[in-house]
Amino acid sequence: MQRLVNKRVLLGVSGGIAAYKSAELVRRLKDAGAEVRVVMTRGAREFITPLTLQALSGNPVHGDLLDPNAEAAMGHIELARWADLILVAPTTADLMARLAQGRGDDLLTTLVLATDAELALAPAMNQAMWRDPATQANLQLLLERGFKVFGPAAGEQACGDIGPGRMLEPADIAARAADCFSYGALSGVHVLINAGPTREAIDPVRYISNHSSGKMGFALAEAAVEAGARVTLVAGPVTLPTPGRVTRVDVVSAEEMLSACEQALPADIFIASAAVADYRPARVAESKLKKDPASGEGFTLSMVRNPDILATLASHPQRPWCVGFAAETDRLLEYASDKLQRKNLDLIIANDVSQPGIGFNSDENAVTLIDRALQQHHLPCASKQKLARQIIAHIASRFSGHSE
Ligand code: C5P
Repeated sequence: MQRLVNKRVLLGVSGGIAAYKSAELVRRLKDAGAEVRVVMTRGAREFITPLTLQALSGNPVHGDLLDPNAEAAMGHIELARWADLILVAPTTADLMARLAQGRGDDLLTTLVLATDAELALAPAMNQAMWRDPATQANLQLLLERGFKVFGPAAGEQACGDIGPGRMLEPADIAARAADCFSYGALSGVHVLINAGPTREAIDPVRYISNHSSGKMGFALAEAAVEAGARVTLVAGPVTLPTPGRVTRVDVVSAEEMLSACEQALPADIFIASAAVADYRPARVAESKLKKDPASGEGFTLSMVRNPDILATLASHPQRPWCVGFAAETDRLLEYASDKLQRKNLDLIIANDVSQPGIGFNSDENAVTLIDRALQQHHLPCASKQKLARQIIAHIASRFSGHSE
């Protein structure tokens, strides 16, 4: 079921007595880590209230194609793009017929037409309706078009008949929904990433910081989500949008960043991409510091060491598998290997910041990954997005090797 972690499931509910089981299905999908939105047909609303499914899914329920308020919040095309899987449970005989005809006469059928997501149906109807040649012909057509069809089961029906047409149980449907997705390299793994600079206050209006943009860490967060991980991103002050499905915690100073990272534990993997300020002013002035008009003298600021976040987590009782970055201008591999050993890391990502156009604050980077056995793996210059995917693939293979 870990295949459902981070997956976006749009649950369509149509109007049959089995609609009451949709409530349990929403819970099962959410328990398996999926994000769930519900679309109800008009018939479905006669059997179960939108309020129930809204409360269980944690999202507003979608109903009408021509509702201006709903369109303003999340339009139907946006909703069709949002989904990784559209699962219709229960699917009535009438809905199967409308889907087979390719109709778009309500929100649910329109979404099915408009989406590129996987499509799955869990039929539920009277056994005679299921056996009817028209329904069977619709079923064949839908299967040929790539719809997955879960069930139906056979047995006693709400109307008293016995035969095929009962909707599968919610746990079974959720398990089959999970089968629609392949395992990501980090399925079910909690990845903690920190990113961006930290700001160390001098007084209420001034601070010390650096030029880190956070781009590499944000790209890593996105790539880890793609690989199926649950991602917590602790971000210093940056202007980047939060990647989808990532839990973001914003912080300002190194001390705040350390405490946010510790609070995010337990994590399986920690990737320290933040450019943490090594020092902070020994004292933060309560009011704005004034320059002395009488003297042309300079000004001395006393600084103290900040905690090393990576080294702290690498020696934590709940130690994650630790990945650090080493940005160096010279003797790159020597300094990086030294840092790996000194901070007790599992992997270090060395990048040469003396080369123009890569590393700090740029869109591209080239890195060398060094593991505990000091084996090197070079990744040539590429966009930070592409590089992030390669780094995450490398981390996933080393991490799974270590935990076996
Ligand atoms: O020692 P140096 O700053 O070069 O080490 C870089 C690595 O250590 C990076 O992964 C960085 O995020 C981490 N670091 C840290 N806390 C600090 C300084 C660096 O976590 N105070």
